[in-house]
Amino acid sequence: MPADEILIAEADIQSRLSELAAEINEALPEGPVHVVMILKGAIIFGVDLARALMRNTTLGFLTASSYGEGTQSSGKVEIDARHLGDLEGRNVLLIDDILDTGHTFAKTIDILKSKRPASLRTCVLMDKPARRETEIQADHVGFTIDNHFVVGYGLDCDEAFRTLPDIRIYAPE
Ligand code: PRP
Repeated sequence: MPADEILIAEADIQSRLSELAAEINEALPEGPVHVVMILKGAIIFGVDLARALMRNTTLGFLTASSYGEGTQSSGKVEIDARHLGDLEGRNVLLIDDILDTGHTFAKTIDILKSKRPASLRTCVLMDKPARRETEIQADHVGFTIDNHFVVGYGLDCDEAFRTLPDIRIYAPE
């Protein structure tokens, strides 16, 4: 399989998830939280993290697709915000799987701010700063990684590997 090398083991993801939930709970105002995930990549991490918060949460979703083939991103991002939910006056947590060039996160944050939430915090499972093309940072980062193309725990290569329980380095055969 072209994704044999484990970069982040399942147990390490799960223990970091608990730490992130504690950090985020500390940083968020008391009360309900509207958790927004960027599909499809954030779906597994996002649901696990939302549950680990052990709070009164509601869920919203955005779909973001960056146009590019295989392992390349082009910088053009198309967002579908129809299932975002109502953000006005609410405390919002935005979750994504990976911060790469930052174009997806930057465009998503602009959309969320335009909905006038009471507060907005951001969290990514992985940050790949070597690839950044924007000024964007996340408030909470699970793991900072080198410039590997990674799959698993929600991340794909041409839609494959999303349901792997760990994060692996994708190396075409
Ligand atoms: C991936 C990933 C992030 C985004 C990060 O999504 O899930 O949302 O790219 O890249 P960026 O920082 O360079 O914008 P993708 O567009 O591949 O769609 P997917 O989540 O459905 O896999």
